[in-house]
Amino acid sequence: MMNVVLVGCGAMSKAWLEAARQTAAVNIVGLVDLDADKARARACEFDLAGAAIGTNLDAILEQTMPEAVFDVVVPAARRDVAVSAFKHHCHLLTEKPLADSLDNAHAILEAARQANRLHAVVQNRRYVPNVRRIRRFLDSGAIGAPTSIHAEFFVAPHFGGFREDMRHVLLIDMAIHTFDAARYMANGEPKRVYCQEWEPPNSWYRQGSSATATFAFASGVVFTYRGSWCADGFRTSWESSWRIVGERGSLVWDGFEDLKAEVAGPVREGLFDTVELITVPLLNPHDRVGGHLGVIQDFVRAVENGTEPETCGTDNIKSLAMVFSAVESAETGRPVEIAI
Ligand SMILES: NC(=O)c1ccc[n+]([C@@H]2O[C@H](COP(=O)([O-])OP(=O)(O)OC[C@H]3O[C@@H](n4cnc5c(N)ncnc54)[C@H](O)[C@@H]3O)[C@@H](O)[C@H]2O)c1
Repeated sequence: MMNVVLVGCGAMSKAWLEAARQTAAVNIVGLVDLDADKARARACEFDLAGAAIGTNLDAILEQTMPEAVFDVVVPAARRDVAVSAFKHHCHLLTEKPLADSLDNAHAILEAARQANRLHAVVQNRRYVPNVRRIRRFLDSGAIGAPTSIHAEFFVAPHFGGFREDMRHVLLIDMAIHTFDAARYMANGEPKRVYCQEWEPPNSWYRQGSSATATFAFASGVVFTYRGSWCADGFRTSWESSWRIVGERGSLVWDGFEDLKAEVAGPVREGLFDTVELITVPLLNPHDRVGGHLGVIQDFVRAVENGTEPETCGTDNIKSLAMVFSAVESAETGRPVEIAI
C-alpha cells in the first residue's frame, strides 16, 4: 500500500478521494490546503480521521514521509508543489494541466529527473472507454488510415473560482483534454498549429473562453478543434463530439454512447460510393479505463514495477506543447511550429 499526501482540497479533490477509496493500494496519510477548513472537511467526508491536516505541504511531508504526493491544486501552484514533492523524495501524480507554462513544465520534469522520482499527469479522459475503442478501431485499419480528426466542444459552465480569472482559459484548462485525446487517437506527433481565440459579449470569463485551432501532425493528419465555454444551447459532451475521416470511411462519436462508423463499398451509385455501417468493436479486456481511478491504479503499478505510466510527464508535455503553441498562435495571429 502506498502512503500518499493529497494537496489541494477544492472541488476536484472529491473525485480523487473517491477513486483512492476504491483501491486498497492507496492510503491517504495527509491532506493539505491553503484553507485548512477545506482539508478538514474532506478528512471528515472520507473518514480520514488519522490523516495529518495542514496548510504547508513541506511541513506535512516532513511529518508523514509519504511515498507519493497527489497534486490537485490550481495550475499556478503546480511547480511549487512539484518542487516540494521531489525535495521530499516523493513520486508525484498531478492534475492536468502538467504546468501553467512550458518553462514550468520543463522545470518540473527536470526536478523529477534529478530526484529520480516518477511523475505522471491525470489525463483522465484517455481512460474513457469510447476513447480506447476509437484508438483500437483506427489501429485496425477498418476505415483506412485516418486523414483528419475533428472535435467540437460547446459547454457553458459557471464554475466561479480561478477559471473565470485565467487567461486562455479554454485552451489551458479544458482543451488540453481534447488535444491529448486527439494526439492519442492520431498516434502521432503534432507539428504545427494555427489558433484563434475570441470573447463573446456574453462571456463571464476574463479571456479565451472560445477558440478554434487547426493542428497538423507529422503524419499529415489534420486535427481541427472548435470550442467555447460560454455557448448556451445544444451542449456537447465534456469529451467533445468527434468525426474522424479515414481513407475509406468515417467514424463519428457524439462524446456519449453513440459511436459508429461507415466504410465505403466497391459500388458507385450516381455521384457516391455506397457506404456500409460497420461495428466499432466493444472494449478490449486489455484497454485501461476508469477515469481518475484508472490513472491512479496505473501510477501505483508503475511505481511498484519501476515502469513508466502512459501519462508520464515526459510524454504528456507533448499535449501541453499543443496547448501553449495554440496560445502563442492566438497571441501572434500566426501559425506556430510545435516545439517541446
Ligand atoms: N481531470 C479533470 O477532469 C479535471 C476536472 C476539473 C478540474 N481539474 C483540475 O484540477 C485542478 C484543481 O481544480 P479545482 O476545480 O479542484 O480547483 P479549486 O479551486 O476548487 O481547488 C483548488 C484548491 O487548491 C488549493 N491550493 C491552491 N494553491 C495551493 C497550495 N500552494 N498549497 C495547498 N493548496 C493550494 C486551493 O485553496 C483550493 O482549495 C486544476 O488543475 C484543474 O484544472 C481537472
